[in-house]
Amino acid sequence: MCGIVGAVAQRDVAEILVEGLRRLEYRGYDSAGIAVVDADSNMTRVRRLGKVKELSDAVDATQVSGGTGIAHTRWATHGEPSEINAHPHVSGDISVVHNGIIENHETLREVLRERGYVFESQTDTEVIAHLVEWERRTSETLVEALQKAVKQLDGAYGTVVVDRNDPSRVVVARSGSPIVIGFGVGENFIASDQLALLSVTRRFMYLEEGDVAEVTRRDVTVFDAQGQLVERDIAESNAEHDAGDKGQYRHFMQKEIFEQPTALINTMEARLTKDTVITESIGVNAAEILAKVEHVQIIACGTSYNAGMTARYWFESLAGVSCDVEIASEFRYRKFVTRPNSLLITLSQSGETADTLAALRLAKEKGYMAAMTVCNVAGSSLVRESDFAFMTRAGTEIGVASTKAFTTQLAALLMLVTAMGKQQQRIDGAKEAEIVEALHALPAQIQAALAYDKEIEALAEDFADKHHTLFLGRGEFYPIAMEASLKLKEISYIHAEAYAAGELKHGPLALIDADMPVVVVAPNNELLEKLKSNVEEVRARGGLLYVFADAAAGFEADDSMKIINLPHVSEITAPIYYTIPMQLLSYHVALIKGTDVDQPRNLAKAVTVE
Ligand code: AGP
Ligand code: GLU
Repeated sequence: MCGIVGAVAQRDVAEILVEGLRRLEYRGYDSAGIAVVDADSNMTRVRRLGKVKELSDAVDATQVSGGTGIAHTRWATHGEPSEINAHPHVSGDISVVHNGIIENHETLREVLRERGYVFESQTDTEVIAHLVEWERRTSETLVEALQKAVKQLDGAYGTVVVDRNDPSRVVVARSGSPIVIGFGVGENFIASDQLALLSVTRRFMYLEEGDVAEVTRRDVTVFDAQGQLVERDIAESNAEHDAGDKGQYRHFMQKEIFEQPTALINTMEARLTKDTVITESIGVNAAEILAKVEHVQIIACGTSYNAGMTARYWFESLAGVSCDVEIASEFRYRKFVTRPNSLLITLSQSGETADTLAALRLAKEKGYMAAMTVCNVAGSSLVRESDFAFMTRAGTEIGVASTKAFTTQLAALLMLVTAMGKQQQRIDGAKEAEIVEALHALPAQIQAALAYDKEIEALAEDFADKHHTLFLGRGEFYPIAMEASLKLKEISYIHAEAYAAGELKHGPLALIDADMPVVVVAPNNELLEKLKSNVEEVRARGGLLYVFADAAAGFEADDSMKIINLPHVSEITAPIYYTIPMQLLSYHVALIKGTDVDQPRNLAKAVTVE
């Protein structure tokens, strides 16, 4: 779930490991730890509850030396966050770090206890340490011991193991949680995300599901799930070096909000001409596949799900193709009927979300005509396992609360919808040109929307002492309200809900009083008059209204209603545009409340466990 870093080198690696953990901090975690072995088989383990900074200070104070090591940031799933539960876990000479969940840990714990092992932690991970220690006794090599151990594990894991008696190697296994190997000169590294290793190498090998590998200073040997020796590709990464740097910004989330004009330009680059979408840029054979699609099934979680909900309106209204959107964790456990010629689309920033990945794997068995992903991380599991991938190119997103990944997903989806409508002859040249013109205009419009920062900051004061907030929208602005409410609750911990404004009178109207701010997303579209009636329903019950409106929509401010007037933008891209003031609102409310904006409590960036 969280971060793994490992190294086999001749120089001291503690600093490299800690720096790697620092680069993975954005994923969210509760504790961190490191174990380093020197050439004389002395092992030093340091663990801390809390931030990597605390671990780093402790490592400095302990003078950890040695060329072989493993390190971890933990996001607790089994056992409270504590120093005892922090990884690495040790059994005899064996030390282990692990991302993911071992589902059969209770059964294994019983068996291992009977063999005499004493458990120090409440984690599921500790069973891996004891299992490897047990298997090591009867195996020729450490890698063989790990192969035997992983055969007994159910669940998801990315794991790295070191034996203090043999500091010349570490062994790793991947099943359901990513592991990448980084190649240096006379030294090699391991991580759960290449970002951790960009300061030491740019050459990477991704392990496949079921792989077990042995990494020494000079060699990497990979075995597949059947134990066969296999070759995996090594690729040069062009990921940004400075992604881990906040620059002039106070938080990564703020930086990422302000990066959106550039992120959108990158997403659209070489995919649009002046007035058309270049269908081939969506993927090999995209033209052929899109022409045949009769139904679209979108699967995603969280913010990505909200992007899918928005795109549903576009698929049906612009391309005339029916579209269902479902939360991955529901889809994967329900009996569903696959419609004929249905295209499965997973949406994901990270490409590693366990539920989304499981839904993709399931759907591949259920007769979808093709599985595509709209994803932000090259080389991620969703990208590798889908038939084709349409990359969002938002750049590394570090804030746990997704911002630029969402708006670039929307832009990518709008391009996809346009290409599909065109291939199906439901979008003509004039309509296509209108959509493409709106997309081209978007980066500059968003740049201008960011200038409302100060005005929105002032508005945020009103929310900071509130316990609940309601967000309203209609049509494709309903999912924009959903995303706005998710953002606010994630980073300010204020309970927030989104409603389709027409649904108010069916229940939520009962909540309205002077302590309940109601935020309304109000572009000037055909539903405006209906929306105005909903606003009146709130006003009549003494609600406090905050309306983000098209300047021409004709709302008038008074004691019960504050208005942010925004310039008119194309109706087609307006959902993307209206997202920006909503992001700024949550950001400023969180700032006033003093919460941890980039790493909100209890959340992780890439949810690689179900
Ligand atoms: C977004 O702000 C969230 N932290 C979360 O809902 C996220 O969107 C969700 O976990 C899906 O992640 P993915 O896009 O990487 O698949
Ligand atoms: N399940 C393990 C634990 O609770 C690993 C959690 C993680 O992925 O960080 O320790």
